[in-house]
Amino acid sequence: MTRTVYVNGEYLPEHEAKVSIFDRAFLMADGVYEVTSVLEGKLIDFAGHAKRLERSLTELDMRAPCTTDELLEIHRELVRVNDIDEGLVYLQITRGAPGDRDFVFPDPETTEPTIVLFTQNKPGLADSPAAKTGLKIVTIEDQRWGRRDIKTVQLLYPSMGKMMAKKAGCDDAWMVEDGFVTEGTSNNAYIVKGNKIITRALSNDILHGITRAAVLRFAREAQMEVEERNFSVEEAKSADEAFVTSASAFVMPVVEIDGAALGDGTPGRRSLRLREIYLEESLKAAI
Ligand code: PDD
Repeated sequence: MTRTVYVNGEYLPEHEAKVSIFDRAFLMADGVYEVTSVLEGKLIDFAGHAKRLERSLTELDMRAPCTTDELLEIHRELVRVNDIDEGLVYLQITRGAPGDRDFVFPDPETTEPTIVLFTQNKPGLADSPAAKTGLKIVTIEDQRWGRRDIKTVQLLYPSMGKMMAKKAGCDDAWMVEDGFVTEGTSNNAYIVKGNKIITRALSNDILHGITRAAVLRFAREAQMEVEERNFSVEEAKSADEAFVTSASAFVMPVVEIDGAALGDGTPGRRSLRLREIYLEESLKAAI
């Protein structure tokens, strides 16, 4: 089926959607993005994603091409016309196409930002088989830039990380800096020790996950203890459980880190419980 996508004010069949070769995201990775999940045809935590998008744009001195209400309307329309029950909406805003290549930012008065949105249909996203078996993780050095809190489209290293994981026979990679885990290639990383959920505190070193914020809130409400601090690879390997969170994976159990099985090598009880709570609660608030 041909998708309908959104480009700079127009809804178009995907093969008719075009962006200039001079677009700053194409030439300089000068763009930000968001991924919002869709369950039962509704957007999960749209407000959180819209708020982080605004922050990313502000941090990069980039202009928003439309209001949050207009963005919501575009998201909903794409979900509707593409008949998405379970899946994702990808949104990208770039500094636009000034008509030539230049390191200097173009004048925002004369260069409009580019905005692109498209849906990805993912039937079975909530009932993922991976959640039943859990992920195998390999650790790699974190070689990304120093502003990982901004959700930019410069995803080459995370993409390389995913390939390193595949080559090692694993599902994903956790990135490590100065001996401590920062995050996964496209998710936030957690370990569980007894009743305690441990995850790195927010800073410029990691993306401030929208799923992370919700999951930590639900964990506290479920009387689990939450500790936001650094943890090492060694500590992770001897943890009772581990999991990752993201808008596309929700809460996904981790069963192995660098070849060391966690617990009995199956998804942990608390990780699975948090997945259940997250899906239930976030669906209630979906719009
Ligand atoms: N990735 N950390 C990184 C590096 C990420 O790329 C993501 C999301 C997260 C989790 O953030 P959130 O809970 O707001 O999705 C953490 C998206 C899903 C992606 O790139 O496809």
